[in-house]
Amino acid sequence: MEAVPETSRPDKGFAGLRVVCFESRMASEAGRLIERHGGIPIVAPSMREVPLVENPAAFKFARALMANELDVVIFLTGVGVKALFDLLASVYPQEVLAQALRRITTVARGPKPARVLRNAGIVPAVEIAQPNTWRELLSELARRTDLAGQRVAVQEYGISNRELIAGLEARGATVMLVPVYRWALPEDRGPLRGALAAIASGNAEVALFTSATQVVHALQVAEAEGCAQEVRRGLGAMVLGSVGPVCSAALRDHGLSVDLEPAHPKLGHLVREAASQAAELLARKRIGAASTVTDRPVRTEPAPRPFDNHPMLRACRMMSVPYTPIWLMRQAGRYMPEYRRVRDRLSFLEMCQRPEVAAEVTVTAVERLNVDAAIIFADILLPLLPMNVGLHYERGDGPVIDRPVRSLAELQRIGKIDVPGALGFVAEAIRIARKALAGRVPLIGFAGAPFTLASYMIEGGASRQYLATKRLMYNHPEVWAALMRMLVRVTTDYLTMQIEAGADIIQLFDSWVGSLGPDDYRNFVLPYTADIIHRLPASVPVIHFGTITGNLLELMREAGGDVIGLDWRVKLGEAWSRLAHAVAVQGNLDPIALFASLDEIRARAKAILDQAGGRPGHIFNLGHGILPETPVDNVIALVEMVHEMSRR
Ligand code: CP3
Repeated sequence: MEAVPETSRPDKGFAGLRVVCFESRMASEAGRLIERHGGIPIVAPSMREVPLVENPAAFKFARALMANELDVVIFLTGVGVKALFDLLASVYPQEVLAQALRRITTVARGPKPARVLRNAGIVPAVEIAQPNTWRELLSELARRTDLAGQRVAVQEYGISNRELIAGLEARGATVMLVPVYRWALPEDRGPLRGALAAIASGNAEVALFTSATQVVHALQVAEAEGCAQEVRRGLGAMVLGSVGPVCSAALRDHGLSVDLEPAHPKLGHLVREAASQAAELLARKRIGAASTVTDRPVRTEPAPRPFDNHPMLRACRMMSVPYTPIWLMRQAGRYMPEYRRVRDRLSFLEMCQRPEVAAEVTVTAVERLNVDAAIIFADILLPLLPMNVGLHYERGDGPVIDRPVRSLAELQRIGKIDVPGALGFVAEAIRIARKALAGRVPLIGFAGAPFTLASYMIEGGASRQYLATKRLMYNHPEVWAALMRMLVRVTTDYLTMQIEAGADIIQLFDSWVGSLGPDDYRNFVLPYTADIIHRLPASVPVIHFGTITGNLLELMREAGGDVIGLDWRVKLGEAWSRLAHAVAVQGNLDPIALFASLDEIRARAKAILDQAGGRPGHIFNLGHGILPETPVDNVIALVEMVHEMSRR
């Protein structure tokens, strides 16, 4: 694009550019203004004012402190300590609070809260040094004090630190939260998350900030969503408008450059001036970027995602839903007569390799069952086809690999894999299925996680003991690492291709990882699975699934994923607590429950919904795939029951 001189260019305003605005109080005006200037508004309120007098948690804390009902107080931020003292000053003079705090254990996370405490005459009993994360805090505190039965207050600022709270509770402490802030995040963070996703995926061109707190909140939520890096990169490529000098300083403090500040620090001026300059600033930025950045891969833009409000996607993002979404692993399979009719004509591989057939089977399952997500008809082992290991499917016996890979020489025989070239039929099936679904439900793309894929490659098929797999892992760790790295590359390419073709959600199947102990999982699996998940765009939720993983749930969460898949061997409520409710969960009805009476199915489904307790972030599913002998009517009934029983 060539820059046109200012004078000869008619002012077309934003001319269809997508404009993110973080304004809260005047959100609707901001949207209208952007529209009037030719832009597509993405308005994402990012702040909510909390009048300090309406901060009952602070007064509750003070009452407990005065009544000797607290043993430990943890102060997380300097600003927060100061705000807390100011707020309570009308009722409790600072010296009175200080006296009470001197009687118990005070903990300061870092030098800033420590300084505020000292100025108030309180010497913190524990001061955590850099990098003062919650981990250091917790281990230092636990080293000094037996936390069992202790009553601990945590002064927090902004987003709650769920890991810290869970860690305290796990050590037997009772935790009281003392949130103190002037600006809170909005109650409904959906629009903000949506805007951040658009920024992270390159689907917005202009961002307008009308206060410094918006900068802090946007980056804080991006951090909590695990997409901070992508958001920063996205913002770096956009035109950033700031309402005035304080806001600009906040942007620069966070390493972001300001492209435009209006003559008058007002929303109207900001939008108008941004509209007249955005196209040119953007063009200049892109030319600049093209000449300086050479190593950034040129990615095709992901297909537009119109389902952001679908309960399935909302549940993945832990947002409120009108009912619990449900889909079922292997929902398109031999238990379904429609499937068997197609399967009579074609082999399983032929079905996968004919995009129109795979798409049809995918969509038929959704229509027949009325589930809330489609999953593309394919198989986790398809990426083994171009590896030339002799993959084929035996009727009734499942997959067989004729030439297993158990040495470096065998691994090296597998050359470089051209994923789009060899597996383009999956992308094509996704495009066809997505079109046929016409926006009714999101489409799940999937892949095997590297451990499960490696186990098939090494064993040559299904296995009970994973003897050959573990033998390679323990005796030849360098061959194991090379195999896993190859699988990370291929799987990342495979999933990226699926996302670009239109997959809205990704599920990683680590079906057999439960055969490992936690140390082996951490050393031999976690880094590779984490690597794949981190290479995918944060805007596409990832479901991380495995079976018999009761001993691995925390580690699987550490590896990543927005949703952790659970099988029926764990109680959903307990498993979710162990994950500190920090991620969404999927599951977990025993597939064999579908062979029981409808009353029994209903009771078991209800027990699972009860354990989820209506919390946002539960996706109903089986604990593993549907068995081929399952009565279809029971499956249809289950979907209906879950919808009906969970309606809020
Ligand atoms: O869920 C769906 O509806 C999408 C389709 C899907 C299939 N396989 C179709 C399939 C998915 C998501 C998979 C994943 C898969 N494949 C996994 C992970 C999930 C799990 O069950 O743990 C695994 C381990 C495989 C490997 C695989 N493929 C096995 C073990 C088998 C044989 C078992 C069986 O059910 O026959 C397959 C073949 C397979 N994959 C079939 C289907 C519908 C049956 C093929 C046929 O019609 O003969």
